[in-house]
Amino acid sequence: MAKKIAIKKKAQTLAKKVKPWAGRFNETTNVLVEEFTASIPYDWRLYPYDIAGSIAHATMLGKTGIIMKKEAMRIIRGLEHILKEIATGTFEFSVALEDIHMNIESRLIQKIGSTGGKLHTARSRNDQVALDLRMYIRDEIARTHDLLRSLQRILVDLACRYDEVALPGYTHLQRAQPVLLGHHLLAYFDMFERDRGRLEDCFRRVDVMPLGAGALAGTVLPIDREFVAKQLGFSRISENSIDAVSDRDFAIEFIAACAQIMMHLSRLAEELVLWSSSEFGFITIADAFTTGSSIMPQKKNPDVAELTRGKTGRVYGSLMALLTVMKGLPLAYNRDMQEDKEPVFDAADTVAHSLSVFMEMLNSITVHREAMRRAAEDGFITATDLADYLVRKNLPFRQAHEIVGKAVLRAIELECGLVAMPLNEYKKLSPLINEDVYDALSLEASVGRRTSLGGTAPSNLKKRLRTLKIKMR
Ligand code: ARG
Repeated sequence: MAKKIAIKKKAQTLAKKVKPWAGRFNETTNVLVEEFTASIPYDWRLYPYDIAGSIAHATMLGKTGIIMKKEAMRIIRGLEHILKEIATGTFEFSVALEDIHMNIESRLIQKIGSTGGKLHTARSRNDQVALDLRMYIRDEIARTHDLLRSLQRILVDLACRYDEVALPGYTHLQRAQPVLLGHHLLAYFDMFERDRGRLEDCFRRVDVMPLGAGALAGTVLPIDREFVAKQLGFSRISENSIDAVSDRDFAIEFIAACAQIMMHLSRLAEELVLWSSSEFGFITIADAFTTGSSIMPQKKNPDVAELTRGKTGRVYGSLMALLTVMKGLPLAYNRDMQEDKEPVFDAADTVAHSLSVFMEMLNSITVHREAMRRAAEDGFITATDLADYLVRKNLPFRQAHEIVGKAVLRAIELECGLVAMPLNEYKKLSPLINEDVYDALSLEASVGRRTSLGGTAPSNLKKRLRTLKIKMR
């Protein structure tokens, strides 16, 4: 999570001397402009990647003879010190130095003198920032991927614990057909499985090393990009220097993957909100994961689930923000692109935070099997099973549907469910219906017979859970 850091606002007079690019300027930067253009209040978080990238770059400069080996060593030692300074909170960030890249470089020069000025050889902040963001997103993908896996494990555990519990499956939020709770939960397993796949897919396009593109056109110096990529664990190197500094597809894809994770989480959250209401009474969420009302003493609100649902909106917002920032930008780098970081950070933080809290909450729920079962025994929920019963007696499904519709109407008149309607009433509707119809109408039969591949039958669920337990080990 982003912590707060102290940032020094340098006086204007000092600023001119401070800025690495000040040579071409006669006047100092307007203070408002300085604040407006600075990204250090948020991009300081990239420091571990910025330093790792700089160390790899300096090593390469030494190895290729672009700078002397011993100069490279001094630079690396300086950078390692700076890493410690930032990690321990003794580093002084400055708004006048705009961003994390210039803050670190200036400190390096301050510490080791003019040798520090050699670090930026054959490099631009344009390829540097692209590198940092790619490295950051690689780690966030790994973190989110792990969190999703943990959530999937919880879903499998819950599905195992409640593998025999039936509840109504809904369409249009109307009771439709009975299903097993385990089967219902594993629907979410599959959603999060696709989300993990999306992250893996996105990773392949993030994992491309842009350093060496320079400002946009490459460099005249004999750099070794393969070496840098290897040092930083990249599997590929960007092929076009202009694309390398102007591409933010990878960031958009990452936020899009986050948005879809949140959408799935939000749907599950919505079900928990419904299920924990008095109207459903299917589950209780533990006290630790609910909050009270300041006016209504009886209230226990599912705020974690609600906020997860709500935070989905901000991740969608980040996705729209970055898509909009990028639209219409001419090649190559434009300062607009500095606006990429906050949406990326916020999406990554929001997903990670939501997943972490949500998992604990999910672990805390108590399932009320009886309430679920009562709802699943709703008078007409096995109507499709009655139609299928007639189909098994060779009646075309359309005719069967018509007869069952009439049976439902008759049962409503008689104020009973399908299971309780006497056989003579069924006989009036179709001579094909016999005593054995009551077997077909039971909850157990309805669920138990849905053995088609991917259906809700207990035998299917058991098999799937066996596979998933091995897969998730
Ligand atoms: N802080 C900048 C960003 O986040 C770094 C790149 C700046 N490049 C430039 N030419 N001004 O995008």
